[in-house]
This record gives sequence, C-alpha cells and structure tokens, in this order.
Amino acid sequence: MAGAATVVVGTKVATALKSRTKTIDASAERDETERVRRIYDKAANHYDRAIGLMEKFLLGGGRRWVCSQSHGDVLEIAIGTGRNLPYYPSSVSLTGIDLSPDMLAIARHRAEESGRNVALHVGDAQALGFPDGQFDTVVSTLSLCTIPDERRAVAEVRRVLRPGGRFLMLEHVRSPVLPARTVQRMLDPLVVRLQADHLLREPLQPLRAEGFEIERIERSKWGIIERVSARKPA
Ligand SMILES: C[S@@+](CC[C@H](N)C(=O)[O-])C[C@H]1O[C@@H](n2cnc3c(N)ncnc32)[C@H](O)[C@@H]1O
Repeated sequence: MAGAATVVVGTKVATALKSRTKTIDASAERDETERVRRIYDKAANHYDRAIGLMEKFLLGGGRRWVCSQSHGDVLEIAIGTGRNLPYYPSSVSLTGIDLSPDMLAIARHRAEESGRNVALHVGDAQALGFPDGQFDTVVSTLSLCTIPDERRAVAEVRRVLRPGGRFLMLEHVRSPVLPARTVQRMLDPLVVRLQADHLLREPLQPLRAEGFEIERIERSKWGIIERVSARKPA
C-alpha cells in the first residue's frame, strides 16, 4: 500500500514539475520573441544596407527563384523591409507579416513606391492570425533563422496553406562542409546574442516532420545557402 501511495505522490510531483517547465518554456519563448522584435526595430534603418552585401555575395538570384514560383494568394512570413516585393509576379495577391513594426514601415513605403497593393500586418509567424488553408503559397526568406521557435512557424505555415499549397524558402543553414561549419559554430553564439540569427539550423528537419513533400532543394556557397520548394500534401 505504502508503495502504491509513493507511486501516486511521485506521479503528481512529476506532473506538477512538467507543467511548471512548460510555463517557464512559454515565458522564455515570449521573452525571446520580444527580444527579436526589439533587435529588428533597432536594426530597421540599417537593414537594407547590411543585407545588400550578403545578397550580393551569398544569395545569387535566390529572391527571384523563390518569388517567381509563387501563385494565387501568397503569404510572406517575416517580410522584413519588403526586399522580395520586386520579384513577385503581378498576378499574385500578396499579404506580408512581420514582428517588427519598424521593419514593416519600410516595407510599406517600398510597396507604396512600387505601386504594389500588399496587405501588411504586424504579426507573429509562430501564431499566425489567419484561418486554416487560406493561402496557395507561403514564402520565407532569411526568416526561419531568426524566428525563436522555427518548428512552430513551420507548423503554422502548414496550417495556413491549402492542401497542395507550396512553401518556398530561401535560408542560410548549417553547412555540411566541415570548415564552413566550424566557422559557423564559432560565430553562432555571438550572432545569436547580437542579432538573434541562428547559423546552425536545418529547416528541412521541421519541414519533413510536418509532412511536407520536398520537391526541390538547391544548395550553394559551401552548402550554407539553401533554396527549397515543398508542398503540403493534397
Ligand atoms: C533577417 S530578417 C529577414 C527579412 C526578410 N525576410 C528578408 O528576406 O530580407 C528577419 C526578419 O524576421 C522577423 N521575425 C523574427 N521573428 C519573427 C516572428 N516570430 N514573426 C514574424 N516575424 C519575425 C524580424 O522582425 C525580421 O524582419
């Protein structure tokens, strides 16, 4: 009897500890999301200049590759300053969300200047404010590296895509090439702390875990730059 009581008490303690850990995890994630917002609000005015260099040396035609394959109702998550806007076909109906109001203000200006009609909203890619199955295409460029819980973001992408809809991604990822990965490992703690930018993530893992059918993968620059086209099963 005493043994059974001990088991019951032990189970209750384990359950209480588990729920406390979950609460701590959720609050740590909220804090990290707030930190990311602050970082990008602060970086907004310099972002275009800084990313321009990276685009030139690392991305090649990556933005065009991603956007030119989009169609129908398109959602771009973490749209930032709207650098992809010039690459979308004029036929798409475009919605963009970002955590940072200051990044989004620049995207708004860019959209107005180009005469493009884009619905832009402040929002969190980890908890999208759209109903299930609303979009034909979801686009993400250089975003899954900064979204605190990229797994949740990928699950949200899947939720808001229509069956058969497509996720198009351009990202810097953990390199399979040892010397490049060693440099990434060395830089990662600093870059995460200063820019909330994770150098060692592998977005294909959450995509596969969410059941996406990977249609196309292109890797370049020592395997650091990855382009992916993936489909939500019909
Ligand atoms: C490196 S920038 C990339 C911006 C843009 N996608 C591009 O290709 O230039 C990362 C962006 O992700 C946004 N971001 C980070 N976490 C987010 C989240 N949870 N929800 C929405 N946007 C987020 C940041 O505010 C920032 O604009």
